[in-house]
Amino acid sequence: MRNLVIGWCMLGLLLDSCSDPGQSLEMSDVDWPAYGGNSAGNRYSHLQQINTENVHELSMAWRYHPDDSLAPGERPGRIVCQPIVVDGTLYGTGSESRLFALDAASGEEIWVFNPEEDCNNRGLNYWQEGKDRRILYVAGSNLYAVDATTGRLKEGFGIGGHVDFYLGLEHDRFDVRNFSITSTCPGVIYKDVLVIGSTVSEYGDALPGDIRGFDVRTGELRWVFHTIPQPGEFGYDTWPKDAYQKIGGANCWAGMVLDDTRGVVYLGTGSPSVDFYGGDRAGANLFANCIIALDAITGERKWHYQTVHHDLWDLDIPCPPNLVTVQHDGKKVDAVVQTTKDGLIYVLDRDTGASLFPVEERPVPESDLPGEQPYPTQKFPLKPDPLVRQVLTEADLPDPQLFPEAAKEIRDRFSKIRHGEKFIPPSSKGIWYIGTGGGAQWGGNSVDPQGILYQNVNEIPTDLLMVDFAERTKVRNNRASSLFIQHCTACHGEDRKGDGLEIPSLVDIKHRLVKDDIKQLLVDGRGRMPSFRHLRNSERRAIIRYIFDELQVPASEDEIHGDGPVAADADQNFPYVPTYINTGYNKVRDSKGYPGIKPPWGTLNAVDLNTGQHLWQVPLGEFEELTEKGIPITGTHNFGGPVVTAGDLVFIAGTEDWKIRAFSRQSGQTLWDYRLPRRGTATPITYAVDGKQYVVIAAGGYGIRQGPITGENQYIAFALPQE
Ligand code: HEC
Repeated sequence: MRNLVIGWCMLGLLLDSCSDPGQSLEMSDVDWPAYGGNSAGNRYSHLQQINTENVHELSMAWRYHPDDSLAPGERPGRIVCQPIVVDGTLYGTGSESRLFALDAASGEEIWVFNPEEDCNNRGLNYWQEGKDRRILYVAGSNLYAVDATTGRLKEGFGIGGHVDFYLGLEHDRFDVRNFSITSTCPGVIYKDVLVIGSTVSEYGDALPGDIRGFDVRTGELRWVFHTIPQPGEFGYDTWPKDAYQKIGGANCWAGMVLDDTRGVVYLGTGSPSVDFYGGDRAGANLFANCIIALDAITGERKWHYQTVHHDLWDLDIPCPPNLVTVQHDGKKVDAVVQTTKDGLIYVLDRDTGASLFPVEERPVPESDLPGEQPYPTQKFPLKPDPLVRQVLTEADLPDPQLFPEAAKEIRDRFSKIRHGEKFIPPSSKGIWYIGTGGGAQWGGNSVDPQGILYQNVNEIPTDLLMVDFAERTKVRNNRASSLFIQHCTACHGEDRKGDGLEIPSLVDIKHRLVKDDIKQLLVDGRGRMPSFRHLRNSERRAIIRYIFDELQVPASEDEIHGDGPVAADADQNFPYVPTYINTGYNKVRDSKGYPGIKPPWGTLNAVDLNTGQHLWQVPLGEFEELTEKGIPITGTHNFGGPVVTAGDLVFIAGTEDWKIRAFSRQSGQTLWDYRLPRRGTATPITYAVDGKQYVVIAAGGYGIRQGPITGENQYIAFALPQE
């Protein structure tokens, strides 16, 4: 590989590092061998064949359809995968668990592996030792090792090529296999240890979010780090006694990065379950909402940094950190950078976890929900400035000149909720804040070698309302509706309309899906939707009848009383039932579906991590119908992250106008765009094969404003035309 790279240098092609003979040329200069581009997760490429001068000439080089065609009426799954490229082969996944290998220059399929499990995969791990080359990824509740050359399972790994992803989580009081676990994000590999997090439920049925190390060759479990400490472990006293037996979550679902010199993994954790009520988990709740440094070989904790104490807002760490070296107080400092759902940027010393910029702990508002015990203080970083609004005021509401109807309606609603400060706890009066689906999100961020961070953010307020769980389920005369409220409304909403972003509406579900498919979905789960395997058959049946609007039909005995006692091993503490529950993951929108807040609604930003200064901010995405009315470009909600290149470009898609764009890294000016056949809610990649640079993105997302989803999922490669 090195020879090839030097050959290109002699031809004067491609690489900015060619001009610096002292800099070692890694394989990653032409490949994209890891999620995030490299183990530091920087989404940066030295390639510069495509640059600010010629990017407008980009055109489609190939496309690949990764999914078998859908049955009529079937909703296509999402693809959120950032693929990898090793030695000219591209590895990615379809909307189900289908893993494939393609010739990265032509898009031709080499092999396909399909374990037929549910999978909402954001990336893959690659490992090589001599001729042993393997891809590791989680589909359903199994960790698979697949031969990268043949696409066949690696027999010596676990049992016949896969490891039970429940390994190491066994509980003495209930069967963990009744509860859902998978991993949407890949882990990182150091030497022969795969370190990986997990995706678990966010409700009372959440398994603990332990971080685990697996042997890359055998699949053997090497270590477990308990993110909810057990007796005798550090942090146990930041919870009520034995909390780990009934509270789950605090999982790393967003991915992690590796410092391969130090042998240290850096990762962020999510909130503890349940998301919005903490009355039964008084205390700071370590290691939820933490940035954590772990020894990759032993799993031993080096340090942790909690971004939110006793989280009540679902302020999970939403993306992997970036590793960067910055100039700070006249010295070079190895840092780890973490961005958050509330638009903050933490820059921490990689060895100590200390913040390089000042951060204050300030008192925060009290709760009006009985039993809730909010933490008295929270962190307020003084630099860099936040990328989204921190406190919503009247001045942030829609402009009556531009959005006359929305302005009045939203102002009326705003006057009734608790508002005016940051960190107002969830309330039965309602609160609005930028958090879930706001700020940073799972696509992650890019950092270039100069220490400039490129980050897309969202600004659409969450509309959170808490209700008394017992009251709410009591008023329903039907067991099915109570079950629906207990298990489904937190996401799909009591109105069953979903959030219009990631969580689909169930309003017309009976016209789109058959009962058997939903039954299967409730057993298996899919993507962010957890499995409901722990419910009894009759309970699942009753819920389905409820969402099919069959409640006019008298409920059967079965639906009223259930079919016998709960499974014998069920523990009375688990699944845990909170006293208060949210009515859905609602967003504040006007009647036309636009965010109920002044634009910008989505932006791309450049921030200098050396000084903490913002360099530029531009809107990301456009509603053409608003621009036509003379409204300045608003930006749209966006998912998926940026990639930055030495060609001075930032590539990013993810917007509700379904475009992929290239921006100038210096100024933020748009230099190229292309409308994808489906929304590109994945992070692109760039690589080169035989001296030709490609940009690839998975177009397999959906969004609310573009009507029904028609196009097929596809991976699309762009390149410059042949000379
Ligand atoms: C943690 C949030 C969450 C909870 C709780 C949840 N869902 Fe979902 N649900 C989702 C998401 C996200 C999807 C989309 C999954 C995908 O395709 O990636 C989904 C998809 C679905 C679909 C398929 C919709 C379609 O158009 O294909 C059905 C049906 C459904 N959920 C029913 C339920 C029921 C019934 C419950 C309660 C037993 C429930 N969900 C609980 C998040 C949730």
